[in-house]
Amino acid sequence: MAAAVSLSAALHGEERHPQAQAKVPVDGPDSLRAHAAAVGLQIGCAVVPQLLDLSANAGNASATPTPDQDPYTHTVIEQANILVAENAMKWSSLRPSPATFAFEQSDKLFQFASIHGQLVRGHNLCWHEQLPSWFSSYASKANAKALLTQHIQTVASRYAGRVHSWDVVNEAVHPPDGRPDGLRKSPWLDLIGPEYIELAFTTAAKADPQAKLTYNDYDIELDTAEQSSKRGAVLMLARRLHARGIPIQAIGVQSHLQATGPRPGAGLLSLIREAAKMGLEVYITEMDVNTRALPGGPEAQDAAVAEVYKTYLDLVLPEPNVKALLTWGITDAHTWLNQSKQPWALRPDFARQRPLPFDDQYEPVPAFFAMRSALDRGRQPLVPTDITTPPKDSKDPYAPFAVPGSPGVPPQTPPHQ
Ligand code: G3I
Repeated sequence: MAAAVSLSAALHGEERHPQAQAKVPVDGPDSLRAHAAAVGLQIGCAVVPQLLDLSANAGNASATPTPDQDPYTHTVIEQANILVAENAMKWSSLRPSPATFAFEQSDKLFQFASIHGQLVRGHNLCWHEQLPSWFSSYASKANAKALLTQHIQTVASRYAGRVHSWDVVNEAVHPPDGRPDGLRKSPWLDLIGPEYIELAFTTAAKADPQAKLTYNDYDIELDTAEQSSKRGAVLMLARRLHARGIPIQAIGVQSHLQATGPRPGAGLLSLIREAAKMGLEVYITEMDVNTRALPGGPEAQDAAVAEVYKTYLDLVLPEPNVKALLTWGITDAHTWLNQSKQPWALRPDFARQRPLPFDDQYEPVPAFFAMRSALDRGRQPLVPTDITTPPKDSKDPYAPFAVPGSPGVPPQTPPHQ
């Protein structure tokens, strides 16, 4: 897309562009898609299939709509080689009733991706949120296992062989719930017990043996005590599944980051490397940067967001088992952070958030150039490789602490095993 680079894009450090306010090319060879392909990385975004225009192409990928005709479709085609449905493949979207499935939007996504040579991530097969309205009165201890397996068999079989990776289980860990295994108290846990996770993965593996089966979670990026604890519990879960021969091939690190607050560091690298030791890939599955608490106008937001993208990608991209990077949306015009009125999304000045590589007008913002520059730096380590070794007797409040199953700490067998 030949879009005007905002002035702020030209003002921030190495993301400075020599032709401030000039039209600079960001499509084709200048796109994130091309720059990621050059370093062997899948790159993409969450999409709303309803907004994608299939007919404009009539099966001809070269006839993509221009930015003026359809900026959303245009940008998704140009920038992504992997897509994921933001909501369209969740239970609430796929299951209008216990007896029926509604595949119109997910089918459309696969058709669109196929036309444009893009892979698809499946999100998700089992989650405690966005369950259909009928679920709470219908699901019971007697039928929950059948309900879960039938859903996974039906959905994963339908797209078998066409899915890059499935988020088989999403957000199942929540240490504040107080269980020794760190699992979240959820409808699935209540109805089936902790083995619902194993059931979901084994069922998905039978239905689609080719997809990389992924455990996906959030708030496992930082070295705060809370996130270190959660990260340890996620790792413990992955280790337990792996040790028992349950088919799991990847960990999804959602990466909903904050413009303010501590930066990810040693703990996240440790998780990625411990995953590698088990042969697991790691995907950055839902990256965006929340500027709710950041004072200042759009340029301040853009600078802070770009800095987070830069430091985060410089940390994770050199890790060889990090295979995919997806942002949770591609444009500020369609992001959950501008749709929610919750305190964690709403800015005190009521300004719109700018968490993604393209703004409300589909112009590339500094985050776009930060991402592209990070890709261009290649996948060579830029941080000391021993960053995961915490200093001895560290009094750092953000230092990782000993959670059973976390790196260097023996796993604790959960009581249900
Ligand atoms: O579609 C209905 C619409 O008919 C209705 O009028 C409207 C009224 O509120 O709601 C619409 O549904 C909303 C839906 O997004 C589609 O916009 C839901 O209320 C809203 O809760 C839902 O939010 C989604 C959220 O997951 C649900 O928890 C966000 O769009 C989506 O970005 C978000 O994505 C999650 C990932 O799946 C998992 N990781 C965290 C990430 C962010 O929360």
